Amino acid sequence: MKDTRLNCGVIGLGRLGFKHAQNLAGRVPRARLVAAADPVPAARDSFRAQFPQADSPGDYHEILRRKDVDAVIIASSTDTHGRIIMESLRAGKYVFCEKPVTLDMAEAEELRKVLGETQGFLMIGFMRRFDSAYRMGKARVDSGELGEPVSMTAISRDPAGPPIEFAKASGGLALDMCVHDIDLARWFLGGEVSRVYAQGGVLMCPELEPIGDIDHAFIEFTFGSGKMAHLEGSRNARYGYDIRTEVICTRGAVFMGGLRQTSCLVLNKNGCLTDVVPEFRTRFDAAYLAEMEAFVEGALSGKPSPVTLEDGIRAVQLCFAVNESLKRRLPVDLK
Ligand SMILES: NC(=O)c1ccc[n+]([C@@H]2O[C@H](COP(=O)([O-])OP(=O)(O)OC[C@H]3O[C@@H](n4cnc5c(N)ncnc54)[C@H](O)[C@@H]3O)[C@@H](O)[C@H]2O)c1
Repeated sequence: MKDTRLNCGVIGLGRLGFKHAQNLAGRVPRARLVAAADPVPAARDSFRAQFPQADSPGDYHEILRRKDVDAVIIASSTDTHGRIIMESLRAGKYVFCEKPVTLDMAEAEELRKVLGETQGFLMIGFMRRFDSAYRMGKARVDSGELGEPVSMTAISRDPAGPPIEFAKASGGLALDMCVHDIDLARWFLGGEVSRVYAQGGVLMCPELEPIGDIDHAFIEFTFGSGKMAHLEGSRNARYGYDIRTEVICTRGAVFMGGLRQTSCLVLNKNGCLTDVVPEFRTRFDAAYLAEMEAFVEGALSGKPSPVTLEDGIRAVQLCFAVNESLKRRLPVDLK
């Protein structure tokens, strides 16, 4: 590639599409934000107000047709991911796509086929792998100094239920939220899960019931190696955004995450008060930037994708097993 910068188009201008657009426009030196597409006029108006230099079509195909766009960042509604990835790869673009990669295992097979045919570059947005605490934890585990990792416990709690229109296209609690911890369990413990047991229900968000979603789940994984993971996914943490992970190893452990965003402690005669992380974009601000840097560097350098389609598909497959276990109220064995 002649230009040393990657010309990028964002597809989907919601909560996360804007975050990626802001990073690409102002914080990733080797990227250039060229365009962003969203069918909703109000989203495009907000985008134009912030990025008057960039194009903003309603139809993302206009971005795919542009010869001067090297890469696309897909942050549209979850039920559009698989189709847009395939179109983007076929259009010869470098592709970043938000999790989950698809909501359909037949489509996952098609994605494998298209990626194989096009030999394209596709990175999936598991941004926790780029968070400084998780990176440090992973480096310590991989160094071997703590012995062998044998189990993982993860808590992921949102402060509220998702907007209902978002929830309808999200695939539900497992595919939308637990998918991050499912990816981390494979990342930290290695190997594949052989048995899944999950229980869950609606505890505090009755609006999720009519659309078949839940707000709380406990998930148990047993890996083929015998290693284990326990994951909690919840929309019910009215105190804030609570993301914590512990990996137990044969000679120690790593604990990652915490409740506080800042180190400010307020003290009075009643006790101490700290802040609590309010929501995901604040907690993972640096991770979203680091993953975008990794995407741009990966595309420009020709190195393999740091988070692959296979990572995305394995996580989705496990989410389906979680949903099956929830439905049958029984453990599910995987081949
Ligand atoms: N990695 C993370 O931490 C994280 C966090 C939040 C969301 N996400 C994922 O990012 C995606 C977007 O989430 P969000 O919270 O920004 O949702 P959102 O509902 O705020 O925004 C989605 C946007 O996509 C647009 N859209 C829908 N169909 C489109 C199409 N065909 N072409 C272009 N735009 C289209 C919608 O108009 C909307 O503006 C979801 O798949 C979600 O799972 C990931």
